[in-house]
Amino acid sequence: MALVTNVCDYEELAKQKLPKMVYDFYAAGVEDQWTLRENRELATARAAAAAETIMIYKDRNLVQQLIQRAEKAGYKAIVLTVDAPWLGRREADVKNRFTLPQNVMLKIFEGLDQGKIDKTNGSGLAAYVASQIDRSFSWKDIKWLQTVTSLPVLVKGIITAQDTRIAIEYGAAGIIMSNHGGRQLDYLPATISCLEEVVREANGRVPVFIDSRFRRGTDVFKALALGASGVFIGRPVLFSLAVDGEAGVRNALRMLRDELEITMALSGCTSVVLQPDPFLSELTSMYERSTEKGSVWVTMKRSSMKCQARLKKMAAKGEAVELRCLVRATDGKKNICTSLSAKEYLKFQASYATVLKAHMHALKKRERKDKKKAAEVEKIPEKAPKKQKKAPSSKKSAGSKS
Ligand SMILES: Cc1cc2nc3c(=O)[nH]c(=O)nc-3n(C[C@H](O)[C@H](O)[C@H](O)COP(=O)(O)O)c2cc1C
Repeated sequence: MALVTNVCDYEELAKQKLPKMVYDFYAAGVEDQWTLRENRELATARAAAAAETIMIYKDRNLVQQLIQRAEKAGYKAIVLTVDAPWLGRREADVKNRFTLPQNVMLKIFEGLDQGKIDKTNGSGLAAYVASQIDRSFSWKDIKWLQTVTSLPVLVKGIITAQDTRIAIEYGAAGIIMSNHGGRQLDYLPATISCLEEVVREANGRVPVFIDSRFRRGTDVFKALALGASGVFIGRPVLFSLAVDGEAGVRNALRMLRDELEITMALSGCTSVVLQPDPFLSELTSMYERSTEKGSVWVTMKRSSMKCQARLKKMAAKGEAVELRCLVRATDGKKNICTSLSAKEYLKFQASYATVLKAHMHALKKRERKDKKKAAEVEKIPEKAPKKQKKAPSSKKSAGSKS
Protein backbone atom coordinates (compact mmCIF):
# COMPACT_ATOMS: atom_id res chain seq x y z
CA MET A 1 0.00 0.00 0.00
CA ALA A 2 1.24 3.49 -0.84
CA LEU A 3 2.47 5.52 2.12
CA VAL A 4 -0.39 7.46 3.70
CA THR A 5 0.74 10.80 5.09
CA ASN A 6 -2.55 12.63 5.53
CA VAL A 7 -6.27 11.81 5.58
CA CYS A 8 -6.81 12.94 1.96
CA ASP A 9 -4.49 10.14 0.77
CA TYR A 10 -7.14 7.65 1.87
CA GLU A 11 -9.61 9.12 -0.60
CA GLU A 12 -7.29 8.39 -3.56
CA LEU A 13 -6.63 4.84 -2.35
CA ALA A 14 -10.33 4.21 -1.66
CA LYS A 15 -11.13 5.40 -5.18
CA GLN A 16 -8.89 2.66 -6.57
CA LYS A 17 -10.37 0.03 -4.27
CA LEU A 18 -14.10 0.72 -4.18
CA PRO A 19 -16.63 0.01 -6.96
CA LYS A 20 -17.36 3.28 -8.85
CA MET A 21 -20.97 3.36 -7.64
CA VAL A 22 -19.91 3.18 -3.99
CA TYR A 23 -17.04 5.68 -4.36
CA ASP A 24 -19.32 8.17 -6.11
CA PHE A 25 -21.98 7.73 -3.41
CA TYR A 26 -19.47 8.63 -0.73
CA ALA A 27 -17.54 11.33 -2.54
CA ALA A 28 -19.94 13.26 -4.72
CA GLY A 29 -21.93 16.34 -3.79
CA VAL A 30 -25.30 17.55 -4.93
CA GLU A 31 -26.15 18.99 -8.39
CA ASP A 32 -23.34 21.37 -9.56
CA GLN A 33 -21.31 20.55 -6.44
CA TRP A 34 -20.76 24.26 -5.73
CA THR A 35 -21.05 23.78 -1.95
CA LEU A 36 -18.70 20.81 -2.11
CA ARG A 37 -16.06 22.96 -3.85
CA GLU A 38 -16.71 25.87 -1.47
CA ASN A 39 -16.16 23.53 1.49
CA ARG A 40 -12.83 22.51 -0.08
CA GLU A 41 -11.68 26.01 -0.92
CA LEU A 42 -12.69 27.79 2.26
CA ALA A 43 -11.31 25.08 4.49
CA THR A 44 -7.86 26.03 3.23
CA ALA A 45 -8.41 29.71 2.50
CA ARG A 46 -9.30 30.48 6.14
CA ALA A 47 -5.75 29.49 7.05
CA ALA A 48 -4.74 32.94 5.97
CA ALA A 49 -7.25 34.52 8.36
CA ALA A 50 -6.94 33.42 11.16
CA ALA A 51 -23.69 9.91 18.31
CA GLU A 52 -26.26 8.33 16.68
CA THR A 53 -27.86 10.49 14.03
CA ILE A 54 -31.54 10.13 13.45
CA MET A 55 -34.06 11.65 11.14
CA ILE A 56 -37.74 11.91 11.96
CA TYR A 57 -39.53 9.02 10.28
CA LYS A 58 -43.24 8.99 9.58
CA ASP A 59 -43.53 6.05 11.94
CA ARG A 60 -42.73 7.60 15.35
CA ASN A 61 -42.75 4.17 16.90
CA LEU A 62 -39.75 3.34 14.68
CA VAL A 63 -37.95 6.48 15.89
CA GLN A 64 -38.58 5.47 19.49
CA GLN A 65 -37.26 1.97 18.87
CA LEU A 66 -34.10 3.38 17.27
CA ILE A 67 -33.56 5.68 20.24
CA GLN A 68 -34.04 2.84 22.73
CA ARG A 69 -31.53 0.78 20.78
CA ALA A 70 -29.03 3.67 20.88
CA GLU A 71 -29.56 4.11 24.63
CA LYS A 72 -29.00 0.40 25.25
CA ALA A 73 -25.83 0.47 23.16
CA GLY A 74 -24.47 3.22 25.43
CA TYR A 75 -24.69 6.20 23.08
CA LYS A 76 -24.25 9.49 24.92
CA ALA A 77 -26.45 11.73 22.78
CA ILE A 78 -29.05 11.77 20.05
CA VAL A 79 -28.30 13.87 16.98
CA LEU A 80 -31.34 15.07 15.07
CA THR A 81 -30.51 15.75 11.42
CA VAL A 82 -32.59 18.68 10.21
CA ASP A 83 -31.11 19.33 6.76
CA ALA A 84 -32.40 16.24 4.98
CA PRO A 85 -36.21 16.21 4.85
CA TRP A 86 -35.67 15.70 1.11
CA LEU A 87 -32.62 13.98 -0.21
CA GLY A 88 -30.47 16.30 -2.37
CA ARG A 89 -30.32 15.44 -6.06
CA ARG A 90 -27.01 13.60 -6.23
CA GLU A 91 -26.60 13.14 -9.93
CA ALA A 92 -23.75 10.65 -9.63
CA ASP A 93 -26.13 8.32 -7.73
CA VAL A 94 -28.81 8.76 -10.37
CA LYS A 95 -26.34 8.00 -13.21
CA ASN A 96 -24.98 4.97 -11.35
CA ARG A 97 -28.53 3.83 -10.45
CA PHE A 98 -27.25 3.66 -6.89
CA THR A 99 -28.74 0.94 -4.75
CA LEU A 100 -27.49 -1.28 -1.96
CA PRO A 101 -26.18 -4.68 -3.09
CA GLN A 102 -28.50 -7.63 -2.33
CA ASN A 103 -26.42 -8.86 0.61
CA VAL A 104 -26.12 -5.44 2.27
CA MET A 105 -28.82 -3.90 4.44
CA LEU A 106 -29.09 -0.92 6.71
CA LYS A 107 -27.91 -2.51 9.95
CA ILE A 108 -29.63 0.12 12.03
CA PHE A 109 -33.02 -1.20 10.88
CA GLU A 110 -32.20 -4.88 11.38
CA GLY A 111 -35.13 -6.67 13.00
CA LEU A 112 -37.41 -3.71 12.39
CA ASP A 113 -38.32 -4.71 8.84
CA GLN A 114 -37.61 -1.24 7.46
CA GLY A 115 -34.28 -1.64 5.76
CA LYS A 116 -35.11 -2.62 2.21
CA ILE A 117 -34.19 -0.23 -0.56
CA ASP A 118 -35.97 -1.00 -3.81
CA LYS A 119 -34.19 -1.00 -7.14
CA THR A 120 -35.54 1.84 -9.21
CA ASN A 121 -34.51 3.63 -12.38
CA GLY A 122 -32.95 6.49 -10.42
CA SER A 123 -31.32 6.57 -7.02
CA GLY A 124 -32.83 3.88 -4.82
CA LEU A 125 -31.77 5.79 -1.73
CA ALA A 126 -33.70 8.90 -2.76
CA ALA A 127 -36.84 6.82 -3.26
CA TYR A 128 -36.35 5.10 0.09
CA VAL A 129 -35.86 8.37 1.98
CA ALA A 130 -38.88 9.86 0.25
CA SER A 131 -41.01 6.99 1.47
CA GLN A 132 -39.81 7.01 5.09
CA ILE A 133 -38.96 10.55 6.18
CA ASP A 134 -41.60 12.75 7.75
CA ARG A 135 -41.25 15.94 5.77
CA SER A 136 -43.63 17.78 8.03
CA PHE A 137 -41.34 17.59 11.04
CA SER A 138 -40.72 20.87 12.81
CA TRP A 139 -38.91 22.46 15.75
CA LYS A 140 -41.55 20.97 18.05
CA ASP A 141 -40.09 17.54 17.30
CA ILE A 142 -37.02 18.45 19.38
CA LYS A 143 -39.42 18.74 22.32
CA TRP A 144 -41.08 15.45 21.38
CA LEU A 145 -37.68 13.71 21.26
CA GLN A 146 -36.96 14.99 24.76
CA THR A 147 -40.09 13.19 25.96
CA VAL A 148 -38.87 9.84 24.64
CA THR A 149 -35.22 10.00 25.73
CA SER A 150 -33.23 11.32 28.63
CA LEU A 151 -30.16 11.68 26.39
CA PRO A 152 -29.21 15.17 25.25
CA VAL A 153 -30.60 16.02 21.80
CA LEU A 154 -28.22 17.88 19.47
CA VAL A 155 -29.42 19.44 16.24
CA LYS A 156 -27.34 18.86 13.11
CA GLY A 157 -27.53 20.82 9.89
CA ILE A 158 -27.65 24.41 11.14
CA ILE A 159 -25.66 27.25 9.60
CA THR A 160 -27.43 30.46 10.70
CA ALA A 161 -27.71 32.45 13.92
CA GLN A 162 -31.49 32.51 13.59
CA ASP A 163 -31.81 28.72 13.50
CA THR A 164 -29.34 28.49 16.37
CA ARG A 165 -31.56 30.75 18.48
CA ILE A 166 -34.68 28.73 17.70
CA ALA A 167 -32.97 25.37 18.27
CA ILE A 168 -31.78 26.52 21.70
CA GLU A 169 -35.25 27.85 22.53
CA TYR A 170 -36.64 24.41 21.77
CA GLY A 171 -34.14 22.79 24.10
CA ALA A 172 -31.31 21.64 21.80
CA ALA A 173 -28.38 20.54 23.96
CA GLY A 174 -25.90 21.42 21.20
CA ILE A 175 -25.57 22.58 17.61
CA ILE A 176 -23.76 20.70 14.87
CA MET A 177 -23.10 23.10 12.02
CA SER A 178 -23.18 21.19 8.76
CA ASN A 179 -24.05 21.48 5.09
CA HIS A 180 -24.05 17.67 4.99
CA GLY A 181 -20.62 17.72 3.32
CA GLY A 182 -22.16 19.43 0.25
CA ARG A 183 -24.60 16.55 -0.27
CA GLN A 184 -27.90 18.34 0.29
CA LEU A 185 -28.59 21.93 -0.84
CA ASP A 186 -26.16 23.26 -3.42
CA TYR A 187 -24.94 26.88 -3.05
CA LEU A 188 -24.96 26.74 0.71
CA PRO A 189 -21.88 28.51 2.07
CA ALA A 190 -18.96 26.61 3.58
CA THR A 191 -19.81 26.02 7.23
CA ILE A 192 -16.64 27.67 8.55
CA SER A 193 -17.69 30.97 7.00
CA CYS A 194 -20.82 30.96 9.24
CA LEU A 195 -19.16 29.71 12.41
CA GLU A 196 -18.60 33.05 14.09
CA GLU A 197 -22.26 34.12 13.82
CA VAL A 198 -23.49 30.81 15.20
CA VAL A 199 -20.99 30.84 18.09
CA ARG A 200 -21.97 34.43 18.89
CA GLU A 201 -25.64 33.48 19.01
CA ALA A 202 -25.04 30.36 21.13
CA ASN A 203 -23.00 32.55 23.49
CA GLY A 204 -21.76 29.61 25.55
CA ARG A 205 -25.29 28.32 26.32
CA VAL A 206 -24.72 25.14 24.31
CA PRO A 207 -21.65 23.74 22.55
CA VAL A 208 -21.28 24.42 18.82
CA PHE A 209 -19.71 21.64 16.74
CA ILE A 210 -18.98 21.79 13.04
CA ASP A 211 -18.39 19.50 10.06
CA SER A 212 -18.08 19.52 6.25
CA ARG A 213 -14.67 19.09 4.68
CA PHE A 214 -12.36 19.27 7.68
CA ARG A 215 -9.29 17.40 6.50
CA ARG A 216 -6.27 18.86 8.29
CA GLY A 217 -5.24 19.63 11.84
CA THR A 218 -4.98 23.25 10.69
CA ASP A 219 -8.68 23.13 9.67
CA VAL A 220 -9.58 21.86 13.14
CA PHE A 221 -7.41 24.54 14.74
CA LYS A 222 -9.18 27.28 12.76
CA ALA A 223 -12.60 26.02 13.85
CA LEU A 224 -11.54 25.83 17.50
CA ALA A 225 -10.01 29.30 17.28
CA LEU A 226 -13.31 30.63 15.94
CA GLY A 227 -15.18 29.17 18.90
CA ALA A 228 -16.21 25.65 17.87
CA SER A 229 -16.30 23.10 20.68
CA GLY A 230 -15.28 20.30 18.35
CA VAL A 231 -15.07 19.15 14.76
CA PHE A 232 -16.63 16.12 13.10
CA ILE A 233 -15.43 14.35 9.98
CA GLY A 234 -17.45 12.28 7.56
CA ARG A 235 -15.84 10.89 4.41
CA PRO A 236 -12.30 10.44 5.82
CA VAL A 237 -13.75 7.78 8.12
CA LEU A 238 -15.43 5.97 5.22
CA PHE A 239 -12.37 6.12 2.97
CA SER A 240 -9.88 5.03 5.63
CA LEU A 241 -12.25 2.21 6.64
CA ALA A 242 -12.51 1.07 3.01
CA VAL A 243 -8.71 1.08 2.60
CA ASP A 244 -7.56 -0.42 5.88
CA GLY A 245 -10.50 -1.25 8.15
CA GLU A 246 -10.39 -0.20 11.80
CA ALA A 247 -6.63 0.37 11.64
CA GLY A 248 -7.22 2.84 8.80
CA VAL A 249 -9.77 4.84 10.81
CA ARG A 250 -7.49 4.88 13.86
CA ASN A 251 -4.64 6.10 11.66
CA ALA A 252 -6.76 8.83 10.06
CA LEU A 253 -7.81 10.12 13.50
CA ARG A 254 -4.25 9.91 14.78
CA MET A 255 -2.91 11.89 11.83
CA LEU A 256 -5.49 14.62 12.37
CA ARG A 257 -4.69 14.70 16.06
CA ASP A 258 -0.93 14.89 15.43
CA GLU A 259 -1.42 17.68 12.90
CA LEU A 260 -3.56 19.58 15.42
CA GLU A 261 -0.95 19.18 18.15
CA ILE A 262 1.84 20.43 15.86
CA THR A 263 -0.30 23.39 14.78
CA MET A 264 -1.00 24.23 18.41
CA ALA A 265 2.64 23.98 19.38
CA LEU A 266 3.75 26.17 16.47
CA SER A 267 1.05 28.72 17.29
CA GLY A 268 2.05 28.90 20.94
CA CYS A 269 -1.16 27.29 22.24
CA THR A 270 -0.63 24.94 25.13
CA SER A 271 -4.15 23.55 25.41
CA VAL A 272 -7.62 23.60 23.91
CA VAL A 273 -10.80 23.74 25.96
CA LEU A 274 -12.33 20.28 25.79
CA GLN A 275 -15.91 19.29 26.46
CA PRO A 276 -16.28 17.77 29.96
CA ASP A 277 -16.54 14.15 28.73
CA PRO A 278 -13.46 14.19 26.45
CA PHE A 279 -11.63 16.03 29.26
CA LEU A 280 -12.45 13.21 31.69
CA SER A 281 -11.34 10.54 29.20
CA GLU A 282 -8.07 12.41 28.59
CA LEU A 283 -7.61 12.78 32.34
CA THR A 284 -8.19 9.05 32.78
CA SER A 285 -5.51 8.34 30.16
CA MET A 286 -3.14 10.72 31.96
CA TYR A 287 -3.65 8.85 35.22
CA GLU A 288 -3.20 5.52 33.49
CA ARG A 289 0.00 6.67 31.78
CA SER A 290 1.49 7.79 35.08
CA THR A 291 0.47 4.90 37.34
CA GLU A 292 4.08 3.85 37.87
CA LYS A 293 5.86 7.16 37.46
CA GLY A 294 5.00 10.85 37.14
CA SER A 295 2.36 13.24 38.45
CA VAL A 296 -0.93 14.62 37.28
CA TRP A 297 -1.92 18.08 38.51
CA VAL A 298 -5.50 19.25 38.46
CA THR A 299 -6.48 22.83 39.24
CA MET A 300 -9.84 24.58 39.26
CA LYS A 301 -10.59 28.27 39.09
CA ARG A 302 -13.43 30.64 38.34
CA SER A 303 -13.26 32.18 34.88
CA SER A 304 -15.46 34.06 32.45
CA MET A 305 -13.51 32.43 29.58
CA LYS A 306 -13.47 35.82 27.85
CA CYS A 307 -10.56 38.09 27.02
CA GLN A 308 -10.26 41.52 28.65
CA ALA A 309 -11.32 43.36 25.47
CA ARG A 310 -14.52 41.29 25.23
CA LEU A 311 -15.26 41.78 28.93
CA LYS A 312 -14.89 45.55 28.50
CA LYS A 313 -17.26 45.53 25.54
CA MET A 314 -19.81 43.49 27.48
CA ALA A 315 -19.53 45.78 30.50
CA ALA A 316 -20.08 48.82 28.25
CA LYS A 317 -23.25 47.23 26.88
CA GLY A 318 -24.38 46.23 30.38
CA GLU A 319 -24.32 42.53 29.42
CA ALA A 320 -24.06 40.02 32.27
CA VAL A 321 -20.92 37.88 32.33
CA GLU A 322 -21.41 34.19 33.08
CA LEU A 323 -18.77 32.84 35.42
CA ARG A 324 -17.64 29.29 34.73
CA CYS A 325 -15.31 26.83 36.40
CA LEU A 326 -12.10 26.36 34.44
CA VAL A 327 -10.53 22.96 35.17
CA ARG A 328 -6.98 22.36 34.00
CA ALA A 329 -4.89 19.20 34.13
CA THR A 330 -1.31 18.49 33.21
CA ASP A 331 1.10 15.60 33.45
CA GLY A 332 4.03 17.81 32.54
CA LYS A 333 3.93 16.72 28.92
CA LYS A 334 0.40 17.59 28.00
CA ASN A 335 -2.05 20.26 29.16
CA ILE A 336 -5.81 19.88 28.93
CA CYS A 337 -8.65 21.99 30.18
CA THR A 338 -12.42 22.19 30.28
CA SER A 339 -14.88 24.88 31.18
CA LEU A 340 -18.03 24.12 33.18
CA SER A 341 -21.24 26.03 33.63
CA ALA A 342 -22.82 25.96 37.09
CA LYS A 343 -25.27 23.34 35.76
CA GLU A 344 -22.48 21.09 34.43
CA TYR A 345 -20.36 21.42 37.55
CA LEU A 346 -22.20 18.93 39.79
CA LYS A 347 -22.34 16.24 37.11
CA PHE A 348 -18.64 16.79 36.42
CA GLN A 349 -17.74 16.50 40.10
CA ALA A 350 -19.53 13.14 40.33
CA SER A 351 -17.71 11.77 37.27
CA TYR A 352 -14.41 13.27 38.42
CA ALA A 353 -14.82 11.53 41.79
CA THR A 354 -15.34 8.23 39.96
CA VAL A 355 -12.16 8.76 37.93
CA LEU A 356 -10.23 9.62 41.10
CA LYS A 357 -11.58 6.60 42.98
CA ALA A 358 -10.61 4.30 40.12
CA HIS A 359 -7.02 5.59 40.37
CA MET A 360 -6.90 5.97 44.16
CA HIS A 361 -4.19 3.33 44.48
CA ALA A 362 -1.75 5.64 42.75
CA LEU A 363 -2.60 8.78 44.75
CA LYS A 364 -0.07 9.67 47.41
CA LYS A 365 0.99 12.57 49.52
CA ARG A 366 3.26 15.09 47.96
CA GLU A 367 6.81 14.50 49.12
CA ARG A 368 8.39 17.19 51.29
CA LYS A 369 10.91 19.12 49.25
CA ASP A 370 13.38 19.65 52.02
CA LYS A 371 13.85 16.15 53.40
CA LYS A 372 16.69 17.24 55.69
CA LYS A 373 14.55 19.91 57.34
CA ALA A 374 11.66 17.49 57.74
CA ALA A 375 13.95 14.94 59.37
CA GLU A 376 15.20 17.59 61.80
CA VAL A 377 11.65 18.57 62.74
CA GLU A 378 10.86 14.96 63.48
CA LYS A 379 13.91 14.70 65.72
CA ILE A 380 13.06 17.80 67.79
CA PRO A 381 10.74 16.12 70.35
CA GLU A 382 13.46 13.63 71.30
CA LYS A 383 16.12 16.31 71.82
CA ALA A 384 14.07 19.11 73.34
CA PRO A 385 10.60 18.03 74.35
CA LYS A 386 9.73 21.33 76.10
CA LYS A 387 10.51 23.60 73.11
CA GLN A 388 8.54 21.48 70.70
CA LYS A 389 7.88 23.15 67.34
CA LYS A 390 4.75 22.43 65.40
CA ALA A 391 5.61 20.32 62.37
CA PRO A 392 4.23 21.75 59.11
CA SER A 393 1.21 19.82 57.93
CA SER A 394 1.89 17.97 54.70
CA LYS A 395 -0.29 19.26 51.86
CA LYS A 396 -1.94 17.13 49.30
CA SER A 397 -3.00 18.91 46.16
CA ALA A 398 -6.44 18.12 44.77
CA GLY A 399 -6.13 15.22 42.41
CA SER A 400 -2.35 15.19 42.44
CA LYS A 401 -0.70 11.86 42.01
CA SER A 402 2.87 10.77 41.95
C1 LIG B 1 -22.01 8.33 2.52
C2 LIG B 1 -22.51 9.36 3.48
C3 LIG B 1 -23.68 9.11 4.20
C4 LIG B 1 -24.16 10.06 5.10
N1 LIG B 1 -25.32 9.80 5.81
C5 LIG B 1 -25.77 10.71 6.72
C6 LIG B 1 -26.93 10.45 7.51
O1 LIG B 1 -27.55 9.41 7.39
N2 LIG B 1 -27.31 11.38 8.40
C7 LIG B 1 -26.64 12.57 8.56
O2 LIG B 1 -27.01 13.40 9.38
N3 LIG B 1 -25.53 12.84 7.82
C8 LIG B 1 -25.08 11.94 6.92
N4 LIG B 1 -23.96 12.23 6.17
C9 LIG B 1 -23.29 13.53 6.33
C10 LIG B 1 -22.22 13.43 7.42
O3 LIG B 1 -22.81 13.17 8.67
C11 LIG B 1 -21.41 14.73 7.52
O4 LIG B 1 -22.29 15.80 7.80
C12 LIG B 1 -20.59 15.05 6.30
O5 LIG B 1 -20.13 13.87 5.67
C13 LIG B 1 -19.41 15.89 6.70
O6 LIG B 1 -18.67 16.28 5.60
P1 LIG B 1 -17.31 15.57 5.17
O7 LIG B 1 -17.66 14.23 4.63
O8 LIG B 1 -16.79 16.47 4.10
O9 LIG B 1 -16.41 15.50 6.36
C14 LIG B 1 -23.46 11.29 5.26
C15 LIG B 1 -22.28 11.51 4.55
C16 LIG B 1 -21.80 10.57 3.67
C17 LIG B 1 -20.52 10.85 2.92
